[in-house]
Amino acid sequence: MRDHLELFLNGRKVRVSGTDAFRTAANWLREVRGATGTKTVCEEGDCGACTVLVGTPRDGRLDYVPVNSCIQMLFQLDGIHVVSVEGLQLGSELSDVQRSMVDHHGAQCGYCTPGFVVAMTALRESGAAVTGREAREALTGNLCRCTGYDPIIEAALDMTGGHGRSLDELYPPGPIAEALARASDGVRIDANGRTFFAPHTLRDALAFLAANPGAVIVQGGTDFGVQCNKRGLRPSVMMTLAHLDGLDGIAIENGALVVGGRATLAALEKFTETRVPALHGILQLFGSPQIRNAGTLAGNVANASPIADTLPFLFVCEAELELESVRGKRAVGINAFYKGYKQLDKAPDEMITKVRVPLPGEAETVRLYKVSKRRDLDISTFTAAIRMTVAGGRMSGVKIAYGGVAPVVLRLPRTEALLEGAGATEALFREAGDVARGEIAPISDVRGSKEFRSLLAANVLMKFFHEEIAGARVAPGTGAR
Ligand SMILES: Cc1cc2nc3c(=O)[nH]c(=O)nc-3n(C[C@H](O)[C@H](O)[C@H](O)COP(=O)(O)OP(=O)(O)OC[C@H]3O[C@@H](n4cnc5c(N)ncnc54)[C@H](O)[C@@H]3O)c2cc1C
Ligand code: FES
Ligand code: FES
Repeated sequence: MRDHLELFLNGRKVRVSGTDAFRTAANWLREVRGATGTKTVCEEGDCGACTVLVGTPRDGRLDYVPVNSCIQMLFQLDGIHVVSVEGLQLGSELSDVQRSMVDHHGAQCGYCTPGFVVAMTALRESGAAVTGREAREALTGNLCRCTGYDPIIEAALDMTGGHGRSLDELYPPGPIAEALARASDGVRIDANGRTFFAPHTLRDALAFLAANPGAVIVQGGTDFGVQCNKRGLRPSVMMTLAHLDGLDGIAIENGALVVGGRATLAALEKFTETRVPALHGILQLFGSPQIRNAGTLAGNVANASPIADTLPFLFVCEAELELESVRGKRAVGINAFYKGYKQLDKAPDEMITKVRVPLPGEAETVRLYKVSKRRDLDISTFTAAIRMTVAGGRMSGVKIAYGGVAPVVLRLPRTEALLEGAGATEALFREAGDVARGEIAPISDVRGSKEFRSLLAANVLMKFFHEEIAGARVAPGTGAR
């Protein structure tokens, strides 16, 4: 068991012990390593100025993805190769991406620029042909307040003119992956009254939770990091699951999507693209690439937000959570998991090890809706999932779930009962809208008034009727905006 972190920063091995392990990665880079190219602005994952690349060893290679270092604790990066903006240059020679940003006048104040350069490097490393669409999608997690996006997109479309080396050429992956693999055992750091534990086996993880029932599990940290930075959260005992094998799998088994407790949203987005397009559509609108590369489905479920984007789908599919503790495993249906605002049917020593989602059949229609003030990187005002089979004009298997209309995501049993077995007519859907409005208890907040949410609760049913039953379909997951 190590009492320190081992990681690589821009090709050099670094050992971190004591309280530094509990800093955010961005603060550690800037204040301890003097790598001030990485900026901190919003400190809540919204602007991308702090973007760094994290290279995870996999079969002797390093898979690089961009993440927000302002909401990653350094302890989350044990066993990782971190490449900050400083690590992209070759001596004084700018990289292709940096040179292109200069040539296309993609920077003014420069706060956002390092983050854009790192996110664009990730796009280039992906090897995909870069079109305007890809560039825009890859940069949804990066905000520029002054240049305007056109020069930045032009720079992304023309990433040439610099030293042109790939990350694998700059940092041959073999020796780094090997050194990190050698260090892949458990880690425990106790410093200044705080403890961090990264178990190597599930058994160790469950034993640690049993001994420390209040321990906070930190996965992607995309909710946790924001709570620390903006709400002063400072738990004394934390555990990551990053070193556990076998919890990151995603598969389809007996007609169900089975997602491991530490599988990332980015991995799920990729997996569902052809297999579960409705869920894929909503994942594409989830945060930004940086957020999806770090965040997990289990984290979205356990964080228990009434506007968590994956929940309405899990509700209408009647997903099951596998909870594990030293006492054994148990399964809990998602519809019974939330007992009140942020109250879960989960003991403090239990963790989610699997999410099992029975998938709708071919003949069923499932539509997911996310209403937010802007398309990308925005918290939902209202979410919905509507599932049913329509055959011979009659509806069956009707399941409806709404988010953002109560302290927890709700199923709408009275609305479902009204539609079940009935003929699908506009008049009935209008009536269903009135019933749905009676089943919810929305509140007003900065994202929308209770009247607006109530109107959405009715209108989304009309939208479903016109698009799915009366008229032509539109692409899954892109509706209700
Ligand atoms: C900029 C930004 C944009 C975002 N956009 C969206 C969005 O579009 N839609 C949306 O729904 N959410 C969004 N989020 C919220 C967040 O990204 C998601 O909720 C994400 O799924 C959380 O996963 P995580 O692994 O990062 O969780 P963490 O932050 O690591 O953990 C969250 C909570 O879950 C608990 N937990 C995690 N894993 C387990 C486990 N296996 N067992 C038990 N408890 C566990 C943790 O202890 C913690 O309480 C956004 C957040 C940010 C910062
Ligand atoms: S500082 Fe804005 S996303 Fe990190
Ligand atoms: S150049 Fe991007 S914020 Fe100013």
